[in-house]
Amino acid sequence: MWSAFGGVRSAGMRFTADRPLGVAPATIGDYRELARRRLPRQLFDYIDGGAYEESTMRANVSELEAIKLRQRVMVDVETRTQATMVLGQELATPVILAPVGMAGMFAPRAEVQAIRAATTAGVPFVESTVSICGLDEVAGASSRPPWFQLYVMRDRSFAEGLMAKAASLDVPVLILTVDLPVVGARFRDTRNAMTGEASGLAKLRRGMDIAGHPRWVREVAVGGKPLIFGNLEQVVPGAKTPVAFRRWVDNQFDPSVTWDDIAWVRENWPGKLVVKGVLDTEDARRAADAGVDGLVVSNHGGRQLDAVSSTVSALPGIAEAVGDQMDVLVDGGVRSGLDVVKLMALGAKACLIGRAWAWAVAGKGEAGVAHVLRVIKSDIDVALGLTGTTDVADLDRSILLTEP
Ligand SMILES: Cc1cc2nc3c(=O)[nH]c(=O)nc-3n(C[C@H](O)[C@H](O)[C@H](O)COP(=O)(O)O)c2cc1C
Repeated sequence: MWSAFGGVRSAGMRFTADRPLGVAPATIGDYRELARRRLPRQLFDYIDGGAYEESTMRANVSELEAIKLRQRVMVDVETRTQATMVLGQELATPVILAPVGMAGMFAPRAEVQAIRAATTAGVPFVESTVSICGLDEVAGASSRPPWFQLYVMRDRSFAEGLMAKAASLDVPVLILTVDLPVVGARFRDTRNAMTGEASGLAKLRRGMDIAGHPRWVREVAVGGKPLIFGNLEQVVPGAKTPVAFRRWVDNQFDPSVTWDDIAWVRENWPGKLVVKGVLDTEDARRAADAGVDGLVVSNHGGRQLDAVSSTVSALPGIAEAVGDQMDVLVDGGVRSGLDVVKLMALGAKACLIGRAWAWAVAGKGEAGVAHVLRVIKSDIDVALGLTGTTDVADLDRSILLTEP
């Protein structure tokens, strides 16, 4: 299949393999290609890859892409609005920058660049627990406080400290990620010696990969000082390399967390609470019973358990079950504003984007993220106009020709 940009698309990944140098990026796929050129392979693969055979990761994209929209004409679409309220916050467009760990390895102080672009676009940025730039730095860079994503570590006092810090910075929404009690195998990271069991030869290859990207070394590794691990700085003993950092984080996730722990989070968190990583209707009902304010239908971008359902296929049942009790959000495979419109038609209040902003910040920093957000907004606007819809709040299944 060919992209509008003249490049080849791989199965479901929409990348432009032969994008000529010097041509301005126009799509999220173009930013993926830019990121591929700029980053050491180990970092590009860390963003790009998924778990095991990556079938769920591909399904997130391909099943979303396969949905057909109904074109409708001769409807008055002179005024079109995509502003929406999510979790008590106004979003200029129904998009949220998903938590992406280690982003400060992709571009200098990438989390700061990303929140600036998000704030200009009028959408929230979610700061990951495992960010390079800490909450203070990110919050200080924007007039709009970030949202914060929490992983519950074995040391509960650590999570309590982070929640207190977030509350003191007026963070309005806490996103509790629950789909990482254990870490799925990501074979690309294993091959790139990112998982800590590297032989001497693999380490040498990793070093050569980095040495082959002098611009990244100059701008990011030296200029961006990414070896200071923002939120974890105080607690990661000796983790001064990404590999040591990852090993520490992987060992720290607490697999004993249950729905009962929502009460503990509530005791420590005064703001809105969202659970991220729900893929099953029964779990969505448990989340509603536990009294959370929202959930994110997510399979972690296909980075955890392969062979689970795509998010677009899990979404309709979940939205039907609990959509009247809380804000149902979704992520996974969003590569354009048309994807956002499809997911909203299936019951989502807004979508999170992960790789899209990671590629953009790697490719062109703040300007890249700002551009990607403008592209998505413009796609949504056109999709509203051509499906005969004037407000994203009115999107429903009637605009779909086919469903997942
Ligand atoms: C490089 C990378 C790092 C991620 N780090 C985190 C994280 O720290 N916390 C989290 O909750 N999700 C994390 N995610 C998952 C994203 O928040 C999101 O669920 C996923 O990227 C959505 O799929 P998409 O990339 O296809 O948009 C990460 C995803 C990527 C690609």
